[in-house]
Amino acid sequence: MKDVLDDLKIIKTSQSRLPQVDLSNLTFGSVFSDHMFVVDYIDGQWQEPRIMPYGPLPMEPGAKVFHYGQAVFEGMKAFKDEQGNVFLFRPEMNFERINRSAWRLAMPQIPEEFFMGGIKKLIELDKDWIPDGEGASLYIRPVYIATENQIAASVSRNYRFMIITSPAQSYFSGEVKVKIEKRYTRACHGGVGSAKAAGNYAAQFMPTQQARKEGYKQLIWTDSKTHELIEESGAMNLFFRIGDEICTSPLYDTILPGVTRDSLLTLGRDHGLDIKERKITVTELVEAAEKGELKEIFGSGTAVTVLPIVGFGYEDKYYPTPQLDNPLWSVLKQMLMDIQYNRAPDPYGWRVKVL
Ligand code: COI
Repeated sequence: MKDVLDDLKIIKTSQSRLPQVDLSNLTFGSVFSDHMFVVDYIDGQWQEPRIMPYGPLPMEPGAKVFHYGQAVFEGMKAFKDEQGNVFLFRPEMNFERINRSAWRLAMPQIPEEFFMGGIKKLIELDKDWIPDGEGASLYIRPVYIATENQIAASVSRNYRFMIITSPAQSYFSGEVKVKIEKRYTRACHGGVGSAKAAGNYAAQFMPTQQARKEGYKQLIWTDSKTHELIEESGAMNLFFRIGDEICTSPLYDTILPGVTRDSLLTLGRDHGLDIKERKITVTELVEAAEKGELKEIFGSGTAVTVLPIVGFGYEDKYYPTPQLDNPLWSVLKQMLMDIQYNRAPDPYGWRVKVL
């Protein structure tokens, strides 16, 4: 069968920017590889997709994305193994999620051949941008926006789906402390919290900025009504080790269903860990910390992978987590990365070879 992208229009860059980039010294998300994939949707029809040099695209100031935030995105990574083979990790989960997010924001579904085919073609072209080494990857950012030039507050007729990529190492530098947020809310029931909607991130910036002044990198978001139920942390889902129990919050509709979260649940459970998905309360967490029963907190996400959290703040108090010799987060991270970097068998079929 002929692939829709067989005739993909590719305009290659005349001069790669790669020689100017130090792939061993990267600030997350600030360097972009040479090419991007772009396809427009106009009046009910997907137009001809194209790959072109990464760079500015003309947009009408009246485009609906600027006014009403009709925008969703994804975060994925391509990993290079020691032989130079390149793999995606569970890309079908991101494809399904972007279309669920699109559905929630009344945007047309993205065809699989654009999403998967676009990523594969981009990686073929920009494979030299994939950094080597532990924790390094090519971060892939599919993004989908409303482009109709009309400021009526109604569903856009036109859209643009783009894929850009960025060589990446770690997301955060230094230790990560988080603060439990009691006043502001990331999401409420019936809202868009489980969609990867751009506005969900914008809404977090101001409260996070305030917490940063106190030395915290992220907030732990709590439910909008009581601020008593732990939800997630914006760039990551959260896991807690309390006494002998490991738990994470169930996927309420206020929580982004993380691919890494799902993978850790599977890996952990298949290795005999009883990881519970259950309601976790702020009171319980504070009490566990006071009694010395809170052993670990860690975050999971594509960008952060698995990230230890050195302590949390609540009201005016800071509760450090203990330094353990063989913490669970690092065991789980190792298992995950061994699959991602093709160092271990993949009984789940999570690795998708692209090169
Ligand atoms: C990811 O983990 O890939 C995300 O999209 C989160 C973002 C804040 C970097």
